[in-house]
Amino acid sequence: MSDDRIVSPNENISEDKSLDLNLRPKTFSDYIGQDNIKANLQISIKAASKRSEPIDHVLFYGAPGLGKTTLAHVISNEMTANIKITSGPAIERSGDLAAILSNLSEGDILFIDEIHRLNKTVEEILYPAMEDFALDLIMGKGPGARTIRIDLPKFTIIGATTRASMLSAPLRDRFGIVHHLDFYEENHIQQIVKRSSTILGVEIDDESGQLIAERSRKTPRIANRLLKRVRDFSVVEGDGTISKEICLKSFDILNVDKYGLDHVDRKILNTIINKFKGGPVGLNTLAAATGEDMSTIEDVYEPYLMQLGFLDRSSRGRVATDSAFGHLGLDKK
Ligand SMILES: Nc1ncnc2c1ncn2[C@@H]1O[C@H](COP(=O)(O)OP(=O)(O)O)[C@@H](O)[C@H]1O
Ligand SMILES: [Mg+2]
Repeated sequence: MSDDRIVSPNENISEDKSLDLNLRPKTFSDYIGQDNIKANLQISIKAASKRSEPIDHVLFYGAPGLGKTTLAHVISNEMTANIKITSGPAIERSGDLAAILSNLSEGDILFIDEIHRLNKTVEEILYPAMEDFALDLIMGKGPGARTIRIDLPKFTIIGATTRASMLSAPLRDRFGIVHHLDFYEENHIQQIVKRSSTILGVEIDDESGQLIAERSRKTPRIANRLLKRVRDFSVVEGDGTISKEICLKSFDILNVDKYGLDHVDRKILNTIINKFKGGPVGLNTLAAATGEDMSTIEDVYEPYLMQLGFLDRSSRGRVATDSAFGHLGLDKK
C-alpha cells in the first residue's frame, strides 16, 4: 500500500503528529476558509451560550485532512468546554461507551472520530444518550432482566467521518448540526501556507506559496506537509529561503505533478485508460488491477480526481475523462 505518499491526505506520516499540533488553528479566526460552516457554527455557539446550554450534536463529514478534527477542537476552545477524544474503532463494547458517557460532565464535548466505524450494539447505547441524555443499562439476565435508566449531564457529541453514507440513518438523524467539508479554494490554501510558514519561521514569497497551494490537492494537511518538505529541501540545497526554483526541484524529487497527483493517482488513471479503454470499470476490478485497497480508492483518491474532473463515477463504474487523457498525454482511441 501507499500510506507513505507525500500527497496522502491521511494522517499517516509520523511527522504529521507534531506538525499538526503546532499548526492546528485553535480559534475560528485562525481557521481559514470554510466560511459558511464557520458562520453557522458561530451562530449555534452564540445561541447555545445565551440559553446556557451545550450546543446540539455536530457531525462533520468530508475527505481526510480538510479540518474536521481541528473544528472539533476550535468549538471546544470557543465554548471553553472540555473535550474528550475517542474513535469508532476504539470503542469495542457497549460497556466501554457507557463508561465514557457516565464520566462526562455538564457541557463536555465528546469527539468521536471515524464514527461510521462504531459497531451496532455500541451505537444503540448512543441513541438514548444523544436524544434524552440517558443511559439504559440492562441488569441481570434472562426473564428476570430489567433496564435501569440513568440520567446523564447535558453534553455534546461531535462526530467526524469520511463517509456519511456509511452512517446508519438513526444515528445521522440524531445530529442537529451536520456540515460537509469540501475541498478548499486555492486562495484559502495559500493563506494556510502563509500562516504555517510564519509559525515554522520560514520565509516564503507569494509565487512559492501559490506553487505549493496548487499541488496540495486543496487539502490543508497536504499543504502543510509539502511546505515542510520544501523547507527541508531549501535548507539542504540553499540558504533556507523558499524560492520558485527550490519548490519546483522539490516537487520533482517528490514526484508530485502540477495538480498534486503522484504515481498512485497516475497509476489509477493509466489503468482505467490502458487496461479498460478509459472505462467504465467497476471499483473492485480497478482495485485488483492497481493493487490498491477498494476503500482507499473510494475515500482518498477518487474524491480529488473527481474534483479535478479527471474521473467520473457512472452506474457501470469509473470512467477516465477527456481531461485525464489530456493530462497524461494520451490519445483517446
Ligand atoms: N481551516 C484550516 N485552516 C488552517 N489550517 C487547517 C485548517 N484545516 C485544517 N488545517 C490544518 O490541517 C491539519 C489537518 O486537519 P485535521 O483537522 O486533522 O483534518 P481531518 O480531521 O479532517 O482529517 C491540521 O492540523 C491543521 O494544521
Ligand atoms: Mg481527523
